[in-house]
Amino acid sequence: MGLLADLKILYHLTLRPIRGKDHVERMESFYRGQAEAYDAFRKRLLKGREELWQLVGVPEGGVWVDMGGGTGANLENFGDRIERLEKVYVVDLSKSLLEVAARRFKTRGWPNAEAVEADATVWRPPSGAADVVTFSYSLTMIPDWFAAIENAKAMLSPGGVIGVVDFYVSRKHPAEGHARHSWLTRSFWPVWFAADNVYPSADHVPYLHRHFKPIHFQECRGKLPYFPIMRMPYYIFLGEKAVIPHEAGSCSPGPETP
Ligand SMILES: C[S@@+](CC[C@H](N)C(=O)[O-])C[C@H]1O[C@@H](n2cnc3c(N)ncnc32)[C@H](O)[C@@H]1O
Repeated sequence: MGLLADLKILYHLTLRPIRGKDHVERMESFYRGQAEAYDAFRKRLLKGREELWQLVGVPEGGVWVDMGGGTGANLENFGDRIERLEKVYVVDLSKSLLEVAARRFKTRGWPNAEAVEADATVWRPPSGAADVVTFSYSLTMIPDWFAAIENAKAMLSPGGVIGVVDFYVSRKHPAEGHARHSWLTRSFWPVWFAADNVYPSADHVPYLHRHFKPIHFQECRGKLPYFPIMRMPYYIFLGEKAVIPHEAGSCSPGPETP
C-alpha cells in the first residue's frame, strides 16, 4: 500500500505532464492526482518544516497565515496550542489540496482554522493584519515570489514574524557567512525541479535578509526518498518585520503666519 502510494506520487513528480493555461490550472493539474497521498510522501521529502514551526512558537491570540499551505498538514505541528490562536488561514491555489485541509480542520475540531483558495501574492486576511506569515516549500512554486514576500511584509504587524523553509541554491558569490554551493549543485537542482514548476532560487535568501531582520537562518541538506546519494539544499529563515521609528521631517516649520 505504502509502496503503491509512493509509486503514484513518483509518477506525478517525474512522468505525468502538467497541463494548464495559467498558474492556477497548472497547480491543480499537478496536485489533483496526488492530494490524498501527498502528506505521507512529503513528510520524507520536505525537511525542516517541524523545526520552523518550533522556532516560530504560537503567538497567543494571534493571526497566522500559512501561504501555499496545501493540505494544512503543518498545522499538526501546533497540537493543542492551535486553540491559543485567534485564527489560522491556510491559503493555497489548489482546490484538491484545500479540500484535504478543510476535512482535516473539521475532523480535528479546529474552528479557528480556515482553508482559503487564493493567490499568496495578493490575498490578505479580512482584518488586513497578521502576526505570523509562513511559506513552507511554497515560495519556490510561486512565480512572483517577490510579490508574495512583499504582500506578507505588508500584512505583518510591526514586530510580526515571517518564517520560510524551502529548497534553494546559493549564489556563486554568496554573502559572507553564507554557504557556497558548487557549480554542479547550482546547476543541477534548478533543472531537476523545473519539470515540476519548482524553482529553487539563489535570490530568495538575500531578498529575505534585505526585507526582514533575521532572527534565525540555517542552511542544510536533506535526503531525497529513493535517491540515497542525493542531498538537496534547503534553508530555514525566520525574520521580524522591523519597527521603523518615526522620523521627524528636517524642514523648519517657519514662523506662525495667519
Ligand atoms: C510543495 S507545496 C507545499 C505545501 C505545504 N506548504 C507543505 O509544506 O506541505 C507548494 C504549494 O504552494 C501552492 N502555491 C503555488 N503557487 C501559489 C500561489 N501563487 N498562491 C498560493 N499558493 C500557491 C501550491 O498549490 C502548493 O500547495
